[in-house]
Amino acid sequence: MFERLNRQPADKILALMSAYKADDRDTKIDLGVGVYKDAEGNTPVMRAVKEAEKRIQANQTTKSYVGLAGDPAFGAAMKDLVLADSVAHDRVAAVATPGGTGAIRQGLELIRLANPEARIWLSAPTWPNHPSIVKYLKMEMAEYRYFDDATRGVDFEGMMADLRTVAAGDVVLVHGCCHNPTGANLTLDQWDQVISLLDARGAVPFVDIAYQGFGDGLDADGAATRKVVAAFENVLIAASCSKNFGIYRERTGILMAVSKDSDQAAVAQDNMNFLNRQNYSFPPDHGARVVTEILTDPSLRADWEAELEEVRNTMLGLRRQLADELRQRSNSDRFDFLADHRGMFSRLGTTPDKVEALRADHGIYMVGDSRMNIAGLNERTVPILAKAIIDAGV
Ligand code: LMR
Repeated sequence: MFERLNRQPADKILALMSAYKADDRDTKIDLGVGVYKDAEGNTPVMRAVKEAEKRIQANQTTKSYVGLAGDPAFGAAMKDLVLADSVAHDRVAAVATPGGTGAIRQGLELIRLANPEARIWLSAPTWPNHPSIVKYLKMEMAEYRYFDDATRGVDFEGMMADLRTVAAGDVVLVHGCCHNPTGANLTLDQWDQVISLLDARGAVPFVDIAYQGFGDGLDADGAATRKVVAAFENVLIAASCSKNFGIYRERTGILMAVSKDSDQAAVAQDNMNFLNRQNYSFPPDHGARVVTEILTDPSLRADWEAELEEVRNTMLGLRRQLADELRQRSNSDRFDFLADHRGMFSRLGTTPDKVEALRADHGIYMVGDSRMNIAGLNERTVPILAKAIIDAGV
């Protein structure tokens, strides 16, 4: 049977992770996979996570199953964190999922159950796993323009022009904050325009929010998602705890689905529980429990928020340092966009052969579309990267 299998196309981000590992130059710099690293290149366990784990270990009396949707307390805490009071919480069905990817997958499956004809609109570009999963599920896919290669900002006119062709019932996937892979984001005023347009088209928004707290702060980063949720009868939200809690390998995420009232939310909940059962039965619990412990304990929460702010400010400082270095070395302001971008990533906006030259000649690893993980830098390596970028003729 297995002789009938063909190899799958490599995931660009994961392939880069392996290539970096295999490179034995000690000057190499990893700007690939989206994992936060401190100045020493470590991805530390956050202080509040350590403390929450200690408490769980001391107090947990059973490892028995929790429930198909996961712990309701996790659902409630995540609704508060992501949605705040933008919608009555009894209109929101929620299931814990294995990471943000699990939430995307379950969300798409829910859409397929509800409306198999729906086309899924993705930003061009987007996180490569989005189109990969949509294709795997054999759902119809469409793209809307998003990034302007000239300004390295959002191509807002192009985006609106493409979204004007969305059909009623189509699903439009948007990044709630910290767009991956570009780092370019809509202003709140632009969000209002997108919301009015999608509402007029009868579209259903699907918000992927994987970096809340990495851009302008927890509430500022949740603002667009909350605007969307407040404006539509139906919204899907996939939220990840991998990055803002630094619990990548625990696979902690949540799918939330907003319905027009609590009765429909109960039906959506039933379908989401069913989908969890079909795909993996009960979702993982440990990471979700850690998150709940942190979000519901005032002192743990304060410490988590403080450390998240340190992480966010470190990345902002690196962005400013890199933009300044490049301003000096290029004698121009053409890299200033790096300081305006938000989140973990920036798309440098250069060609694959220059990305390859940066890897081959300088040991600098970024994704082929020139996405850089800013958190892969530190104060010492920023000037090295800036010099390499200019040397490579970017
Ligand atoms: C990324 O975009 O690098 C992260 O979301 C990690 C991943 O799974 O691709």
